[in-house]
Amino acid sequence: MKDILRELENRRAAAWMGGGQRRIDAQHAKGKLTARERLDLLLDEGSFEEFDTFVTHRCTDFGMENDRPYGDGVVTGWGTINGRMVYVFSQDFTVFGGSLSETHAQKICKIMDMAIQNGAPVIGLNDSGGARIQEGVASLAGYADVFQRNIMASGVVPQISVIMGPCAGGAVYSPAMTDFIFMVKDSSYMFVTGPDVVKTVTNEIVSAEELGGASTHTRKSSVADGAFENDVEALLEVRRLVDFLPLNNREKPPVRPFYDDPGRLDTSLDTLIPDNANTPYDMKELILKLSDEADFYEIQEDFAKNIITGFIRLEGQSVGVVANQPMVLAGCLDIDSSRKAARFVRFCDAFEIPILTLVDVPGFLPGTGQEYGGVIKHGAKLLFAYGEATVPKVTVITRKAYGGAYDVMASKHLRGDFNYAWPTAEIAVMGARGATEILYRSELGDAVKIAARTKDYEDRFANPFVAAEKGFIDEVIMPRSTRRRICRAFASLRTKKLTNPWKKHDNIPL
Ligand code: HXC
Repeated sequence: MKDILRELENRRAAAWMGGGQRRIDAQHAKGKLTARERLDLLLDEGSFEEFDTFVTHRCTDFGMENDRPYGDGVVTGWGTINGRMVYVFSQDFTVFGGSLSETHAQKICKIMDMAIQNGAPVIGLNDSGGARIQEGVASLAGYADVFQRNIMASGVVPQISVIMGPCAGGAVYSPAMTDFIFMVKDSSYMFVTGPDVVKTVTNEIVSAEELGGASTHTRKSSVADGAFENDVEALLEVRRLVDFLPLNNREKPPVRPFYDDPGRLDTSLDTLIPDNANTPYDMKELILKLSDEADFYEIQEDFAKNIITGFIRLEGQSVGVVANQPMVLAGCLDIDSSRKAARFVRFCDAFEIPILTLVDVPGFLPGTGQEYGGVIKHGAKLLFAYGEATVPKVTVITRKAYGGAYDVMASKHLRGDFNYAWPTAEIAVMGARGATEILYRSELGDAVKIAARTKDYEDRFANPFVAAEKGFIDEVIMPRSTRRRICRAFASLRTKKLTNPWKKHDNIPL
């Protein structure tokens, strides 16, 4: 019996060595952790339960029959994050460069099937040379099997990808279909075709980092939602994110203990809005002052900074925040910010996370670049996302809410549940100056007259009361009491039930 038990221990020890000490050392020398070290950091201590430790590949070409390391380049299983269940896979670069074989894919598919069936998130730690070259089409089939499961899991369980090494070719499309992608700076990259192919086809000379590194994907392409300094920071931040999310689409988001008074008044908010309507202020200050313990988890912090998206808690409950940022492009909506916010709103709605919208928007950004780029379709995405969302929606207009952008930003007309405005709000078709110049074109040469007309327009429309008279604003509130108001609003909406008409699926403009 003793020998039998020892045999198991020996085999486990062999599996845990992955591709051997030399390759583990090489991995460490690159500043990267091994697949198992990463899981140790991601999951609660001692919570990891491994599946398929002893799976080996079945390839017999290129001498592969003599090289069958246990696990086949991916460690899979489940564990907990702060006591809540998650399914995980972690590609092991020390085994055939973490490349994906038929059996490697089967291991990933097994835990994805269980995640969908049992209702828990899937977290993938990607570090792979792509398709297992020795296996050819069997590997491509394996990728497609994973893709299909990404699609089936979308909107059912949260899916999170962390790119911690290479991720190239068609392999990028599995992370691309998950809800959040995080990258590690300087040690990860993602691209469909690498620098060599780019050079051959387009004559462009570009490094892997420039083409698909963390900074490219968080600032330019918006493929990634966040970039972190190293493996440790990335994994700890994923733990933080998971704490905000429900385990699946049938569960409410988690409620965590909170130590911040929901009735807390903040008099500094009464002076947040500058006297001059064209002076910017930092919307993040408002978000931090409203949230429990000033804890804000920002998504896509470095992309389309004219809109802010992320998670906060109010009375311990997760809330998704979408907020115009007057510090960047005066808070205008444009192609990038509309896409960024629309995807975030749809994530929140899919997973029953209520949405708080903070509005200070002078309109859509004008220009040929925007029109040629299809701002009509992209702006419509955000409008569509808000309009179809059935989760509790609370909106606070702090200052400008002009034109079509007023409608888009979770207005009453898009089934907003509570639409509040500060006394500083200006809800109008456009700014007073622009409106006057159109209405009184014939008086344009007369500066005194135009100034008087502008003042008149401001007096009549640069306030929240015209909208409040019509019931489009439910109440004009004191800035200092905003946290109390929104906490009470969301509390009153916990029993909200709203369903859309049956359809196979909608046809959101893409
Ligand atoms: C099999 C692979 C492999 C692969 C790497 N290895 N990629 N084995 N299939 N795809 C092995 C290497 O042979 C090596 O084995 C070990 O992994 C580490 O690789 P190195 O090259 O030494 O590491 P490094 O210098 O860090 O370079 C990493 C790399 C490079 C950039 C990923 O290995 C590389 O370019 N690999 C090929 C990438 C590729 O073309 N993949 C197919 C893409 S097409 P030893 O024994 O020496 O440790 C694709 C299509 C997907 O993925 C389609 C989905 C629809």
